[in-house]
Amino acid sequence: MDNKHSSFSYQELNGVEECSAAVQELFKMAAKAKDKAYAPYSKFKVGAALLLEDGEIFTGNNQENAAYPSGLCAERVAIFAAKSQKTEAVVKSLVIVTNAQDIAVPVAPCGSCRQVLVEYEFMQKEKFDIYLQGSNGKVIRIPSAESLLPFSFHSEMLNS
Ligand code: THU
Repeated sequence: MDNKHSSFSYQELNGVEECSAAVQELFKMAAKAKDKAYAPYSKFKVGAALLLEDGEIFTGNNQENAAYPSGLCAERVAIFAAKSQKTEAVVKSLVIVTNAQDIAVPVAPCGSCRQVLVEYEFMQKEKFDIYLQGSNGKVIRIPSAESLLPFSFHSEMLNS
């Protein structure tokens, strides 16, 4: 038996001011998107903003529904919007923010969002940064979607 090991490195920044100007703008856009979230059931508002290689920014927020599973997370709303309008879109950075007040640790993407993010990252053959922020103001910079989902399912597996 071989024991294997998987880990990834990420950065913790003291605040948004330690991010690049482009990422600071994403934080502003994500916060604006969050405020427009339709989350009457969970009251948990999430906003996402992503920067494309061509400089365009797409945003999204969570959209809930009385039939609960019919809603969609902010990250997927944002990236589906980008990819549906620009099939060749290359994502450089993604910012996710929430209205959570009492969670010091940043809220991270759910499993389904990770799967979606990984597929687009794999397609574009270039990793993108994911930025999260907890209520203590600290920012987490994760170097790729892939690092959040080891052993992810890929399209190639469908053909095997
Ligand atoms: N949600 C997101 O939009 N993104 C996440 O990463 C986690 C969860 C939404 C889904 C639902 O509308 C609400 O937050 C509570 O789960």
